[in-house]
Formats: sequence, structure tokens, C-alpha cells
Amino acid sequence: MENSSSQAAAGKRLTPSAIAAYLDQYVVGQDEAKKKLAVAVYSHYRKLGKRRPDEVAVSKSNILLIGPTGTGKTLMCETLSHFLRVPFVTANATSLAQSKYVNEEIEALLLRLLEKAQGDLALAQSGIVFIDEVDKLKSGGSEQHGSSGESVQHALLKIMEGASVRLGATRSIDTTDILFICAGAFVGLESIAASSHAYGFIATSEADDEEILDRLNSRVKPTDLFKFGLIPEFTGRLPIIASLDNLSRELLVKIMVEPRNSIYNQFREILKDEGVELVIEEAAFRQIAEMAYEYKVGARSVRGIFEEMLVPVLFAIPDRPEVRKVVFKSLFEEPVLITAA
Ligand SMILES: Nc1ncnc2c1ncn2[C@@H]1O[C@H](COP(=O)(O)OP(=O)(O)O)[C@@H](O)[C@H]1O
Ligand SMILES: [Mg+2]
Repeated sequence: MENSSSQAAAGKRLTPSAIAAYLDQYVVGQDEAKKKLAVAVYSHYRKLGKRRPDEVAVSKSNILLIGPTGTGKTLMCETLSHFLRVPFVTANATSLAQSKYVNEEIEALLLRLLEKAQGDLALAQSGIVFIDEVDKLKSGGSEQHGSSGESVQHALLKIMEGASVRLGATRSIDTTDILFICAGAFVGLESIAASSHAYGFIATSEADDEEILDRLNSRVKPTDLFKFGLIPEFTGRLPIIASLDNLSRELLVKIMVEPRNSIYNQFREILKDEGVELVIEEAAFRQIAEMAYEYKVGARSVRGIFEEMLVPVLFAIPDRPEVRKVVFKSLFEEPVLITAA
């Protein structure tokens, strides 16, 4: 019997470009990461769809997303899982490391995956497990009460390689075809990478030289990840590395406005229910983006600043049925209230 994920994979719409186009509706920027993710996911589910018993086992392309906080790592994975309609669960590496019983935590995680699949084992076995903050699993760090980062890496490694994991007394789940996406900010990785620019001389044409050097030096190398504190076996299970960029002020503005479920659209909807049209002018968005940019937490602080601006209006509007339209020209000025003529 075909499970629904392989049906999705067989459907002709699940091409890398279709995946990226779907991501574009919700995730702003990060085009390189989107493409890498799309290609990896495409090949993963294609492989599943085509698997025959006589086929050579192709190793799985688990993915590592590296990027500053609040730049869309979690959002990208969640969005992806909606598109694929496969069960998706999230674990946090920091909390795994805080537990003494890592293997039980991992069992619980896989059990949640099965629950998300409404008990459909085949579907669960082709789901996605997202593990956030893997950069917190540096080896060498001392953990007094929980487990060491390194032992968590070993535990994760086992399921990422593909293992049969017992779930309670009667069931077990095979993790071979589960796609693992790990993510982390990896603060400090850049300076490790910069100090390990080992690539200097390559004998090709001079023009190519530059480009190859640039490419080599801008890629995150597995050796940089070892130096950071990931064990080689763990890194080895994450062959695809995609980097997310810091969000510029322009992208922060886009994030407020453009996604289908953007914060602007959400609040326009809320006020529409009160019979009020909400208009926020470009200048106000740019001021919010400017403030959010200073906080250096990616898009995370955008919502708070945006909502603060709107609170006085949301407070007053229910008592002012004559107001038809609210216009914000600046974050620092009272909005203009336009009433029915
Ligand atoms: N590239 C992006 N496009 C759209 N929204 C984003 C983007 N990056 C971050 N956000 C917003 O910021 C919030 C936090 O992003 P998240 O994906 O959790 O960041 P992280 O990279 O730390 O996992 C999201 O809920 C989303 O609203
Ligand atoms: Mg996150």
C-alpha cells in the first residue's frame, strides 16, 4: 500500500521548484537555503517512492540549517511539513541534554511522530524530525545534572543512521526513512571558518581560482563543525548544510507585509471585523524594521514592536463605532482616525 507521503512524492507537483515556491509564500528571503532544502527533500521523497527491494540503499540526506536566531529556520521546516503533509515533530537539543534519560526522550519524540500520523506507522516512518539548537550539543561542555552534549549526539546519531526503536512494549518504529533536519545558530562558527581558510593555491586558470577559493571559503566545512564541537560521526550524518543569512531591514519590512499570513494581514483582518480599514504606511514599517534590526534577534522582535504600536487603537476602536479607517504614518505619531462622513 502506498502511504500518503509517497503519493505526494509521486505527484508531479512535488518538484524542487514547487517546494521552493510554496516556501516563498511564507518565508521571506533565504533563497539559497530554500533551494538546498527543496532539493534535499525532493530527492529524499523520490527515493522513498521508488524504493525497490533490489535497489542499492542510497544514504539519506539529512540536513543541517545554520543561521542566526530568528531568521526562519524553524519556520522553514514547519512550512515544509505543511506542504508535504507528512507528520512533523520538533525536539530541542538543549532540553534533550537537560534530561538524564536521553533515550527515553527520543522514544517519546518518535511516539509523538506516530501520534501526528494518527497511528499510521508507514506514514510516521516517512515523517520529518526537526532538532533545534544542535549547536548546544558541543562536546567538552560539562553538564552537571543532565547528559553531556556528546552523549546526546551519540543518541541522535543512532536514530539518524536508521534504527528500529521500541515504542513501549509492543510497537517499534524504523527510523531509516525519517528525514532529520537539524538547526542551530552556531555562534562563533564564522571565526572558526575564517581561521581555517586552508585553501590557498589551486592550479587552474586565474579566473577560476578566485571563484573556487571563494566557494571553498564561504562553505561551512565539516572540519569547522568538528572544531566547534560536533563529533565527526554526527556531522557525517548531516551531509547537506544550508546557511541562512541575517535579515536585512528591507527583508524585515517584507516579513511584516508579504507572507500570506503576515502580521499586517492578520491585523487588517482583525480590524476588518470591527468595520475598520487598517493602513500602515511604508515609513512606519521601516521604523519598526530599524528597531527590530537593532535587537539582533532576526524577525523575532518585529511582532512585539508592531503590536505595541497597535495596542492603543485596538483598545479604543470597540468604543468608537464611527471610525472607518486608521492610518499609521509613523511609529512615533498618533494614528489618523478617519470617521464616517
Ligand atoms: N525568513 C523569514 N520569513 C518570514 N518570517 C520570518 C523569517 N524569519 C523569521 N521569521 C519570523 O520570526 C519568527 C521566528 O523565526 P524562527 O523560524 O523561529 O527563527 P529561528 O531561525 O530562530 O528558528 C517566525 O515565527 C516568523 O514569524
Ligand atoms: Mg528556531
